[in-house]
Amino acid sequence: MHNSSLSNQSAASTVRGADPGTVAHGHAHAKAILFGEHAVVYGSPALAVPLHGLGAQAEIRATPGRESRIESQLFAGPVRAAPEAMAPVVAGLQAALETTGDPDAEVLLRIRSAIPHSRGLGSSAAVATAVARAVAAHRARVLDHATLHTIVQTAETVAHGRPSGIDAWAVATHLPIRFQAGQANAIDVGDRLIFVVADSGHHGSTAEAVAGVRELRDSQPGHTNGAIARLAEITEDAIADVRSGDRVTLGQRMTQAHAVLASIGVSTPTLDGLVEAALSAGAHGAKLTGGGRGGCVLALADSDEAAEALALALRTAGAPRTWTTEVSAT
Ligand code: MEV
Repeated sequence: MHNSSLSNQSAASTVRGADPGTVAHGHAHAKAILFGEHAVVYGSPALAVPLHGLGAQAEIRATPGRESRIESQLFAGPVRAAPEAMAPVVAGLQAALETTGDPDAEVLLRIRSAIPHSRGLGSSAAVATAVARAVAAHRARVLDHATLHTIVQTAETVAHGRPSGIDAWAVATHLPIRFQAGQANAIDVGDRLIFVVADSGHHGSTAEAVAGVRELRDSQPGHTNGAIARLAEITEDAIADVRSGDRVTLGQRMTQAHAVLASIGVSTPTLDGLVEAALSAGAHGAKLTGGGRGGCVLALADSDEAAEALALALRTAGAPRTWTTEVSAT
């Protein structure tokens, strides 16, 4: 069984002298949480998969003597004038420059991301990862997983308050991961899994969704802790299904997990409607993914043809866009 720890590698190392004239690039992909969102905040396990088709790119160059600038879809201008929405990017850039030994560097940072933000797909973590990788490449450094994770968590803390850390891991590794209490392990996949991701068209704030669950846990601890325990159980069972390649049971667990997430207030009528539409169109199972209260639904298809039909059904049911992604057998 492949169950390698991803977190205990050596520290960042310099591979050659930095060339300030260099233009360097960094990339990261989106992620989808298959099981365990919200419960993972309380130390339960979660399972995340990479969404390779959706990515964020960063490009960086030194601009000595000129103040640092950012150019992105959201904002173009001096870093000091960046709006609140860019605060996680600015924090990530600063942390990356500090970690690589040049905190006062004057740079031009360009960001392009195809990952829609506030959709539970890890957009903020992917952008921060792309930025950190670009800064490291520019400084001719190689960042190990743990150092990269620390930089991205700095940005994620600005974006989401107290993130569990799963997004920071999931956008930076090409493998499905089991994540728990800061520790990420790659897991084997017994059979090819094809997922359709459907955008609900509504923003979902992870910070607000996490705060909502925390409030519910304060006011209704029995119910909320029971739901968290049930999500943990479903996640462990689902990891066994992923390993054995049992799509049918895996799908059923997705639908069960959606019902538990709905019971702690993070679904919406739109998300419930998309789950229903996916099941009616033949999905093995479907659930919201990520923080919820908006964002996306994830559905498990039986084949490439079934995924096409599922995507069409989800768009017909109102999803403004869908993406299909596969997790390959290992
Ligand atoms: C967000 O992708 C997943 C949540 O569990 C929050 C977190 O883990 O930090 C909702």
